[in-house]
Order: sequence, then C-alpha cells, then structure tokens
Amino acid sequence: MIILGIESTCDETAASIVRDGKEILSSVVSSQIDLQKAYGGVVPELACRRHIDVIDKVIEEARAQANIEWADIDAIAVAHGPGLVGAILVGLNAAKSLALSLDIPLIPVNHIEAHLYAVLMSHKEAIPFPCLGAVVSGGHTSLIKMHSLGDYELIGQTVDDAVGEAFDKAARLLGLPYPGGPQIERLAKQGDPSRFSLKAGRVKGSPYNFSFSGLKTAILYQVKGQGANKHSVDILPKSEHANLAAAFQETALHDVVDKSLAAAAAHDCQAIILGGGVTFNQRFREIFEEKRGQLPVYWPGAGLSLDNAAMIAGLGYQNAQKQPEGCDLSVDAITRIPF
Ligand code: KG4
Ligand code: ZN
Repeated sequence: MIILGIESTCDETAASIVRDGKEILSSVVSSQIDLQKAYGGVVPELACRRHIDVIDKVIEEARAQANIEWADIDAIAVAHGPGLVGAILVGLNAAKSLALSLDIPLIPVNHIEAHLYAVLMSHKEAIPFPCLGAVVSGGHTSLIKMHSLGDYELIGQTVDDAVGEAFDKAARLLGLPYPGGPQIERLAKQGDPSRFSLKAGRVKGSPYNFSFSGLKTAILYQVKGQGANKHSVDILPKSEHANLAAAFQETALHDVVDKSLAAAAAHDCQAIILGGGVTFNQRFREIFEEKRGQLPVYWPGAGLSLDNAAMIAGLGYQNAQKQPEGCDLSVDAITRIPF
C-alpha cells in the first residue's frame, strides 16, 4: 500500500511517500527556519503563508522523487493536529483536494502519535509492548504508556513550557538564533556545567510531570540579574555563556531522562521510545545510555526526529489497517488532541 503523507502543523511543510508503513520512498521537508529566525520563534500567520506558497511544490517533489505516478497512490494521510490551526488547515485542505480528485481514502493522523511511530518505523526488530513513549519536541513533553499501537495512557506531561521550547527560550536569552536547541548543544560543548547550579521544576503530587518555566527564569536572572525582565541589559560576561548553556542543557536533559526512567519502572514498561526534535541532541542520547541500565531505549532513525511527513504516512498506513475507508472530507483541524 503506497501512502502520501502530508505535514504542516507548525513550521515545516513536508510530504512523503511510504510503502506499507515502513519503506520510505521519498521524504521532502521545507523548513521555515530562514523566515522565522528573525522573530526568535514561530509567527503563526507567516507560517501559514509559507505553507501555502510551498505545499504544492513539496507534494509534487515527494511524488517525483519516489518515482511513482499519482495513480499509484492508495491513500492520503495528513496530520490534522495538534498544532497551529491555520498551518494545519493548509496541509489538510491539500490532502482533501487530492483525496477527492484521486478518489482515494483520506486518513487523519495525530502528529504526536506519529513522532512515536517514527521510532517504530525506524527499527526492523519489533519493539516490546508495553513501552513508554516520550515525546520531546518544541510543542510537547509527554510520557505515554503504549500498551500497543493505538492504545495509550498519558503518564505525565509538562505543565508549562515544552523541553524544546525551553531550549529555544534559553537560547534567545543567550543571544542565540532560533531554533535554540542545536545552538545550545553546540555552545554547551565548550562549557563546564558545574559552574552554575540550576534545578528543573517538580510538580507537587505528579512525579512524572514536567515544569521548565522556573529553569527559564533562572537563566534570565543569571543573564540579566536577579529580578530582571527580558528587556533588561545583560550583566553576564560572554565568557560565561558556554558554562550557562551547559548547565541548562544538563539540568533539562537529566530531568527528562530521570522522569522517563522512573515512569517506565513504575509502569512496567519493557522499553522506552523517544520522538520529537530534542532527540536530535547527542548529549541527550549519552545521558540515556549512562543511566538506562538494562532497559532498551530506541531512537528515531535519520530524518525522523524533526517534523517530517514520513512518520505521518507511516502511521497513516497503520490507521488504514483499522479503518481502510478513512474519514469523510469534513474532518477538521484539531489544535489539541488528548491521548
Ligand atoms: O519535533 P520538532 O521538529 O517540532 C515540534 O513538533 O515541536 O521539534 C523542534 C524542537 C525545537 O524546540 C528545537 O529547538 C528542538 O526541537 N531541537 C533540539 C535540538 N534540535 C532540535 N533541542 C535540543 N537539542 C538539539 N540538538
Ligand atoms: Zn513535531
């Protein structure tokens, strides 16, 4: 079964052709980093306009690179949320038009679930269930017990900023461009994390929930002084920036690793699988390796960490096994989808 996947929930416009849920025939991603960089984050209105400008070209490129004809496509899978509503609608409407004109099923996919499926489609061997799925991205930090594909239980999530968002905000305070994750990781390599003592947030009564807003404020006060706001002038010497970046990175990543391992143990999970942009961070992978003991930990394959459409087409295939007719064309964009 050949599926065209479409992704436009945030600031990447992506299309991909995947055969039988795993074999990626093409995966095209058009990033808006050049556009959003100047604003230090994603401006929804600009994101929508860019999606509209490029979506047709991205889809056509995915088809051409896969070396298939339109008539070879069996279904269209599309991320219908969660994300920015205007951005989602661009991909969703393109998907609806194609499904209608090609007379093939339209399969809605949950973007967060697709980040976890990205890990399953990256590995030849079967990953044991129940496993703990950790989504660590710019929009989400969630721990999900996966009893099987499609049967999920939310174990913990952030009560404020997502971990990737915390990286982006910390980077901004250090004068680094968007997206901040790779910038912090690069700077942290030259730093000594022990020069600053930082703490990640704890959520009373919810040991597997996350809170990163206090950590962000701690960075603000280190850079600009106690009680300062983001418009205050910097007092931290440039020579200390790498040390602060390293301390931030260690604190945020150890918090995610520790809570994931504790949640996996408490909920009898046989493995941990990780999805989302922060899995790109090599230090994150090292810390997991240091602490995981005997518990297997699985990562997304190349090209499947950051937002992409291969994971949408892949999960679309799985959804099509359960509901081959797909959904009708009235399906809506959903900004928040609970697990
Ligand atoms: O999954 P993704 O592409 O988009 C969302 O669904 O949010 O993740 C993007 C996030 C950004 O916050 C970015 O700063 C973060 O992933 N990220 C990283 C790294 N590369 C990307 N965070 C830490 N270290 C990295 N190397
Ligand atoms: Zn994402």
